[in-house]
Amino acid sequence: MGAPRLDVYRDIHKALRAELFETARRLGRADWRDPAEVEALQARVGRLITELRDHVRHEEEHMHPLIERRVPGLVGPLRADHAAQEAFLDEFEAFAERVFAMAADDPMRPRAGLEVYRTLSRFIAIYLPHLEHEETTITRALWELSTNEEIAETYGRLIGTMPREELRGSLEIMLPAINPHERAELLGGIRAGMPDFYSEAAAVAQRVLSAEEWSALQRELSG
Ligand SMILES: [Fe+2]
Repeated sequence: MGAPRLDVYRDIHKALRAELFETARRLGRADWRDPAEVEALQARVGRLITELRDHVRHEEEHMHPLIERRVPGLVGPLRADHAAQEAFLDEFEAFAERVFAMAADDPMRPRAGLEVYRTLSRFIAIYLPHLEHEETTITRALWELSTNEEIAETYGRLIGTMPREELRGSLEIMLPAINPHERAELLGGIRAGMPDFYSEAAAVAQRVLSAEEWSALQRELSG
């Protein structure tokens, strides 16, 4: 066995799954007559849609050219999946916005809210096989046909060219969704590769993790 290969999808896919499942759960239990709860949901759904769109953009800009250089046939179906996801998200966003905008005492809002929940659940159903395809077929192709250095360089460019605010947003959803070992790898990678961003990244970790998780992470990083 050689050194473990870099799994570029691991942390962000865990984060997106966690956000999708948690948002669906909250939509399922929401009181659609409560304006404060609906406002919080609206913000959460908006953030989720932005994260999903950003993720597609990063894959297409950075990962696809690497895949295409070695296995051109794999990129077409990925692009088609992404186009279908984007079309679904556009419709979902427009529909959810209409429901969020209904009056709190509109007797139809809870029923329409149920449809928001079911529509997101349908999105999850088409999205999960796509994530799995990237984690299996695409990752195997990357590992077979690219060196560790090429993958690390591409991934480094993806992270390095992300606006800092977007990167902070990704860390916010990734850190609570991954395990202690992966957290240490993620922050250790930032410390080594983007030292000027490290204190910001550590501040995000401290904010989004529990006190125990944060101390455990600090111990792993100093060990
Ligand atoms: Fe993708």
